[in-house]
Amino acid sequence: MNNFFENKKILITGGTGTFGKAFINKILQTNIKKVYVFSRDELKQWEMRIKKIDKRLCFLLGDVRDKERLYRAFERIDYVIHAAAQKHVPSCEFNPFEAVKTNIIGAENIINAAIDRGVKKVLAISTDKAVEPVNLYGMTKGCMEKLFINGNNYTGENNTSFSCVRYGNVIGSRGSVINAWKNAVERNISISLTDPRMTRFWLTVNKAVDFVIYALMNMNKAEIFVPKLSSMNLINLANIFTNNDDTKILITGRRNGEKLHETLISKYEMSNTIKINKDNKEFFVIYQTLEDKINNETLLEDKHDIFNFDYDEYTSENNDQWINIEEMRKLL
Ligand SMILES: NC(=O)c1ccc[n+]([C@@H]2O[C@H](COP(=O)([O-])OP(=O)(O)OC[C@H]3O[C@@H](n4cnc5c(N)ncnc54)[C@H](OP(=O)(O)O)[C@@H]3O)[C@@H](O)[C@H]2O)c1
Repeated sequence: MNNFFENKKILITGGTGTFGKAFINKILQTNIKKVYVFSRDELKQWEMRIKKIDKRLCFLLGDVRDKERLYRAFERIDYVIHAAAQKHVPSCEFNPFEAVKTNIIGAENIINAAIDRGVKKVLAISTDKAVEPVNLYGMTKGCMEKLFINGNNYTGENNTSFSCVRYGNVIGSRGSVINAWKNAVERNISISLTDPRMTRFWLTVNKAVDFVIYALMNMNKAEIFVPKLSSMNLINLANIFTNNDDTKILITGRRNGEKLHETLISKYEMSNTIKINKDNKEFFVIYQTLEDKINNETLLEDKHDIFNFDYDEYTSENNDQWINIEEMRKLL
């Protein structure tokens, strides 16, 4: 890892968010030369600056909607992690044009600035909600994925590569259901659950960070990297917060734009997907064409295990890996 980051400069959009802060803690443990945090709110940057004292850390105020600002910020940057997003499903539904400006126009701006500034690798963070999306958040992130993957067509003589990582719910991230339920318990009020049949994919922020670093180091271009994750029923999760007291759970009915189960790899993508077991990680790489998949599979065959996975799509419901209550208790 140290060799990969030696003398390199990395910029992370959304560096003050849940993912960004954990990513920066980890990346500063390498011999990276500079880490640039790019986000809008100066208070969040100030709070981070006083907690994390490291000469290699630089704070840039800016909005991904502003292409000139990105062009200036990307000067002599080697790698970009694009984590900034408008990410709350209800807020995207209620403010749809804002979601488009940040998640779609913002992605276009990142791609153009990265190509024009000769950034080597750009990795965008996506979500299971981008797969067969039913809400605007998922649709904008699906669009972002397409822009990043097809952005490779614009690079011309510049060698910029674009890929994505896609994963599920980060335990305890800002605005997550877990935080809402913790808050309800503290206030001694019922917790709200929209549908007790619901399942979700879960991962810790540290697992997300490790996987993103791994993907950055191993990406070629136009891949979507998906970690193999564990699922959990929302009702089991809710029971942890109420100590199995059903009277403390208020069933509110499914929200507009909310799925019962999430999908990390659709049936349309599965045929272009390789399943890899390598470096103590089980993960998938989705290619854009069958030809790309076959070429990469041939390259992998001698060196890596391709693990057995027989599902025709990968959902939080048909998953063969589940978190039990005790494991989740430890993670919370
Ligand atoms: N959390 C999850 O469960 C989850 C699951 C799958 C994928 N993801 C994806 O992972 C990424 C990171 O999520 P997170 O949980 O770390 O989010 P977060 O905690 O809400 O952080 C979002 C970050 O983006 C910045 N930001 C928002 N709009 C911006 C804009 N227009 N220009 C520049 N910066 C902007 C925010 O700072 P300012 O407000 O100061 O600008 C903040 O630093 C997102 O792309 C999200 O879609 C998250």
